[in-house]
Amino acid sequence: MKKSAAARLIVAVSMAAVWTAAFVAARAAGDDNAARGERTFDDAIRDHSRDLFAAGRRTFRFDTFGDEHFWGDTLKLHQAIEGARFGGVGPGLSPAAALGAGLKVDAAALPQTLVDGILRGAVDLNDPANTLALLRLNAVLGVVPIGSTSNGGLQSVGVTCALCHSTVDDSVAPGIGRRRDGWPNRDLNVGAIISMAPDLSAVAALLQVDQPTVRAVANSWGPGKFDAELFLDGKPFRPDGRTAATLIPPAFGLAGVNQHTYTGWGSVPYWNAFVANLEMHGSGTFFDPRLNDAAQFPVAARAGMGNVRGDEDNVTSKLAPLHFYQLAIPAPAPPAGSFDRRAAARGESLFNARARCSTCHVAPLFTEPGWAMHTGEEIGIDNFQADRSPDHRYRTTPLKGLWSHAKGGFYHDGRFATLLAVVQHYDATFTLHLTDAEMNDLVEYLKSL
Ligand code: HEC
Ligand code: HEC
Repeated sequence: MKKSAAARLIVAVSMAAVWTAAFVAARAAGDDNAARGERTFDDAIRDHSRDLFAAGRRTFRFDTFGDEHFWGDTLKLHQAIEGARFGGVGPGLSPAAALGAGLKVDAAALPQTLVDGILRGAVDLNDPANTLALLRLNAVLGVVPIGSTSNGGLQSVGVTCALCHSTVDDSVAPGIGRRRDGWPNRDLNVGAIISMAPDLSAVAALLQVDQPTVRAVANSWGPGKFDAELFLDGKPFRPDGRTAATLIPPAFGLAGVNQHTYTGWGSVPYWNAFVANLEMHGSGTFFDPRLNDAAQFPVAARAGMGNVRGDEDNVTSKLAPLHFYQLAIPAPAPPAGSFDRRAAARGESLFNARARCSTCHVAPLFTEPGWAMHTGEEIGIDNFQADRSPDHRYRTTPLKGLWSHAKGGFYHDGRFATLLAVVQHYDATFTLHLTDAEMNDLVEYLKSL
């Protein structure tokens, strides 16, 4: 039977009326709930997201997971920071030396008088007492002072995620400004900070080497780098003799990305648990039987890192909020005028077609949805770092916010000093036959992401 247009219209109109009535009734019920002060499940979701965000940010910035037992109690790093005058050892770490090692100061944590003093040059940046004062204000990103001794020193010191994965905008002075959570600190010399610690015997025992060797290895990393895999496989150097450390990556723009780390060890909560337990040495729980493979991970297998049960679990309850907060951190937008728009538009066309970049870097994530893993051969590099991970592959790096971490270079180890060098590498590897102008257009596009 064929309905007339008018009949169909009547059906449509009456359906609409039914929907509208249902909607009004639902609204009224919702209003009633609100009037009675009853929370809907929507309210529960919204409140939960606020709570997760707030707790996650606190954890990211300030939580040591109890790792002061390692950095302070075991390595005695606080003694090197405070110096002999405050009960520690040596001259102590002045604010100038701390800034020189790449540590950053959160201007928002400082009283205005102190900010004014810094701006006037009236604060002695060569006095370790002022480093202690900054620490007690919770102003040094990622470094948490614990307790006080009778001579004004610290009982211990711990570190947080913010140490490596945040920086400041230098709005007050170089190294002093507003926080930028998620931006990799490419000034931070983690190795120099570790080798300041008076007692590295625990690390030496773990790696089965002596303390001078630990110091030499840590000092070989250089600014902006850390070697997370050293504590698993004990390999300090690549076959070419250069450091095996990798660049500290951004912890922004990660929402929607499946695998994390340069070599795709796992998801964000996987890696957060890994880092909090195995690298920061917080007290928690961690399970990954892949680390029991004594051939690939001799250090980890020896130390039982594949199954860690701390005395207390300070980590597991933080994983959900920490994950949520990290996914909320966007990649920063490029500053106005920092790239050539018309060249970038031409570069975008190349990226998506002739240069074949988008086969792996799929917009808007700029990595593959799915299992974004490739062998060294596929991208024209060696497999040394890939072979230090369970899947023996490199993960396609998400590319948003590239402009903000040019310092230290690109690819996991910074082997390409500039974006142009990256593009030239692909041009040669994939025999793309791009002209210099086309390569420049691609670079402008990469700067625009
Ligand atoms: C000592 C410096 C340091 C600290 C502290 C640190 N990280 Fe990292 N982080 C790194 C380095 C280096 C890598 C790269 C590791 C690799 O690929 O092998 C990394 C990788 C990551 C990644 C993967 C990023 C991506 O592109 O997929 C995430 C997420 C991350 N860290 C989060 C955290 C969190 C959360 C904490 C605190 C629980 C933390 N990190 C503490 C240095 C650090
Ligand atoms: C076969 C997949 C694949 C293709 C095709 C590809 N890439 Fe990549 N890209 C990767 C992988 C994997 C990495 C990580 C390499 C590393 O860290 O060592 C990467 C890293 C990069 C980086 C470095 C990011 C950083 O933060 O260090 C840039 C930039 C980049 N690619 C741009 C491009 C451009 C431009 C093209 C096209 C000319 C392209 N890629 C084509 C897989 C690919």
